[in-house]
Amino acid sequence: MTAELRLCETDFIEEGEALRVELEGHAPFAVYHDGETFYVSDDLCSHGAASLADGMLSDGRIECPWHSGSFCLKTGAALTFPATEPIRVYPATVRDGWVFIEKPEAG
Ligand code: FES
Repeated sequence: MTAELRLCETDFIEEGEALRVELEGHAPFAVYHDGETFYVSDDLCSHGAASLADGMLSDGRIECPWHSGSFCLKTGAALTFPATEPIRVYPATVRDGWVFIEKPEAG
């Protein structure tokens, strides 16, 4: 059985918003509530030290609050300059009102 991480209750995140989630032993995650979908990525932007949970969310993309680089939340791909490196994304599962991801490998 695959180990999971329980990140946060779905009710904690308004539609169109995101939440930074810190769990011991892991880099911070960002959990996004985009329409009917929840996405999860690393919270740290690949371009600088910005928290992506503070960015602008729309249509499966997150725009970084610092320099407006943006990323696809399905693939992690960098979509707009100055972001050029992808971010790590994690398939999210919603169950019993909580958002889960598979426990990531270290790194
Ligand atoms: S820190 Fe995110 S685009 Fe620069």
